[in-house]
Amino acid sequence: MKSARTMQKEIYLDYAATTPMDQRVIDRVSQASKLYYGNPSSLHRLGMEAEQAIAAVRKNIAKTINCQESEVIFTSGGTEGNNMIIRGIVEKSRREKMRIITTAIEHPSVLDVFSFYQSHGIDVVFLEVDENGLIAMEDLQAALNEHTILVSIMGVNNELGTIQDLQAIGQLIKKSYPKCLFHSDFVQGYLKIPLDIKACRLDAITICAHKIFGPKGAGAVYLKKGLMTKPLLLGGGQEQGLRSGTQNVPGILGFDEAINLRKDIYLQDLELLQRMRDQLIEMLDKRLTDIKVNGQGSPYILNVSFNQVRGEVLLHSLEGAGIFVSTGSACSSHKKEKQYVLKAIGLPEDFKEGTIRISFSKDITDQDLEYTAEQIEKSVNSLRKLIRPKRK
Ligand SMILES: Cc1ncc(COP(=O)(O)O)c(C=O)c1O
Repeated sequence: MKSARTMQKEIYLDYAATTPMDQRVIDRVSQASKLYYGNPSSLHRLGMEAEQAIAAVRKNIAKTINCQESEVIFTSGGTEGNNMIIRGIVEKSRREKMRIITTAIEHPSVLDVFSFYQSHGIDVVFLEVDENGLIAMEDLQAALNEHTILVSIMGVNNELGTIQDLQAIGQLIKKSYPKCLFHSDFVQGYLKIPLDIKACRLDAITICAHKIFGPKGAGAVYLKKGLMTKPLLLGGGQEQGLRSGTQNVPGILGFDEAINLRKDIYLQDLELLQRMRDQLIEMLDKRLTDIKVNGQGSPYILNVSFNQVRGEVLLHSLEGAGIFVSTGSACSSHKKEKQYVLKAIGLPEDFKEGTIRISFSKDITDQDLEYTAEQIEKSVNSLRKLIRPKRK
């Protein structure tokens, strides 16, 4: 791809932060903006048409996650979905003795909510992870007790790509504490890796559109039928009273298009992406020493550390060559504690500083990978020269 601004070759490798909208999604959003401008809550024909249009999307999403249509609630994206579920459940079940459990490496839209409740006196457990970013089942078992109302554990970590075993986790929770609710932030997993919400015994998941070539500001949660949460937003009572506010009709229809473009092919993509990731690791291994690959699981994300390099400097050096990567999650990269995930996996300090996240899509070519490896080698070598004392 060439930048419209500079005509320089552009290789976008930050798909975990967000994805460009597919042209067919753009067309659908544009068409929906013209066709379905009625308010879905209005009683007249234009309102009903908009309502029917989003109802069809609800059905489509429900099919992709094997749930009922009434269990899908539209949101503005991942952050809102996570807040809505966690805060909704905690506020609904407010009682004197109450424990909630999550992991130390969640996205800030989960982590900060748990920290907020901890600072308000609620018993919160942040499960530690190992060097790959995986929780230990024994730790979860030990943390669960009869006061635990909620466990929230992400499916795919946005910085490391680590995939937690949601099925084992769900079964462990429900075996001893069937009333304890289980939520997963599945923003980085939806239509990228398979998920069986029933086998995982999940009560709620969060998904969003902009990680799968859909529009920003559109998302949904699955909330198991019969479960009550306290709504964050009060008002018109849309979305079964759980999320007041006029629905983002064009965004929702764009989400639908993005889903349709992925739902039948994403499993095949997995193999392709795995090969791509392996290939880049191999190229980097051949070209450079003192590098470390972190995390495991998702072929969409490669988190890699270069000793004696500053990640941010490397990012900008690559940007100069038209390559766009990240130093962590875009959503948290301005925060003070931005390396909390790397800290949690116990990455040594000298590697931690030199970490970048490369995230892929099937649009990346072999030539892109070759060029990327070449530029990383060039940048890392020149940055190391600045730091390393010259040998005599
Ligand atoms: C795992 C995870 N959860 C939640 C979010 C937040 O999603 P949104 O940007 O739609 O609010 C992100 C965004 O990067 C994410 O990666």
